[in-house]
Amino acid sequence: MKIVESSHEAYAHVHHLRCDQQKIGLVPTMGALHQGHLSLVERSQAECDVTAVTIFVNPTQFGPHEDYGRYPRTLEADLECLSQRSVDLVFVPQQPALYPAGYSTYVEPPAEAELWEGQCRPGHFRGVLSVVLKLFQILPATVAYFGQKDFQQLTVIRRMAEDFNLPIRVQGCETVRDDDGLALSSRNRYLSAEQREAALSLWKSLRWVEQAVAEGQRDVANLEQTMQQKLYDAGAEKIDYARIVDRESLASLSAVDRPSVALIAAYVGKTRLIDNLLLDAPGPPDH
Ligand code: PAJ
Repeated sequence: MKIVESSHEAYAHVHHLRCDQQKIGLVPTMGALHQGHLSLVERSQAECDVTAVTIFVNPTQFGPHEDYGRYPRTLEADLECLSQRSVDLVFVPQQPALYPAGYSTYVEPPAEAELWEGQCRPGHFRGVLSVVLKLFQILPATVAYFGQKDFQQLTVIRRMAEDFNLPIRVQGCETVRDDDGLALSSRNRYLSAEQREAALSLWKSLRWVEQAVAEGQRDVANLEQTMQQKLYDAGAEKIDYARIVDRESLASLSAVDRPSVALIAAYVGKTRLIDNLLLDAPGPPDH
């Protein structure tokens, strides 16, 4: 496994492979790797000739009062884990390699980024898209793998790749969950045993919505209200949003009458958790 800190070296390596007609998979991460990240690595290894992983805690996507400083950093364990899986290349830039003194160019995010996470975390997607675009340039891969766990992030990255004609395919991958349904997240390690139980409130309310829609409930206002109640009842302390939206545009809906997605962001203690579930409603309306 090749570990590279320099952007030039990373580019030269991947560019050479690409010229050699190799299919290259890219998995961008912020480290503190868990089975969710590793599922992207495994998918890339199954589909591509070469897999490159990036580990970089990107400061520009964190707000001033967010957890950049205390974001978990477990580089040694991450590298060990990737080496065991025979990943070909790991790019681990230091901050100045991506943001040298005087750096000031950023991506203006698309309309889908203004909603939900975008409202709660101003500047977040600007930081995400800027670093992802840089990583796409530095590691000119064939396919980039992202988790549906961060559904809105996947949507805006797809949109950027399309709008900027980027020569890379953006592949979404299913959310990996613990046995009880909790979506794996680097931030789960902040949770005490009691908080971990409360964190299940997200999955419980998503499953409730799925069931309610399957039983024919279509009215989004009613569904959202109960979803929020279920979140509080099961231990969430503060809800940023719990909404059912159009799966493509992420715009609000009044009825679940098309491919939709339920999106949640809520706090358990000081830890902010997000989760989502796709909803399909091909059947009959409310009865
Ligand atoms: P990070 O939170 O480290 O996540 C890296 C990738 O792993 C993302 O595509 C995310 O959606 C995916 N992922 C996280 N948890 C997952 C789970 N339980 N199941 C499946 N996939 C999961 O997302 C970021 O980093 C950053 O914003 C980044 C894109 C790297 C830009 O800095």
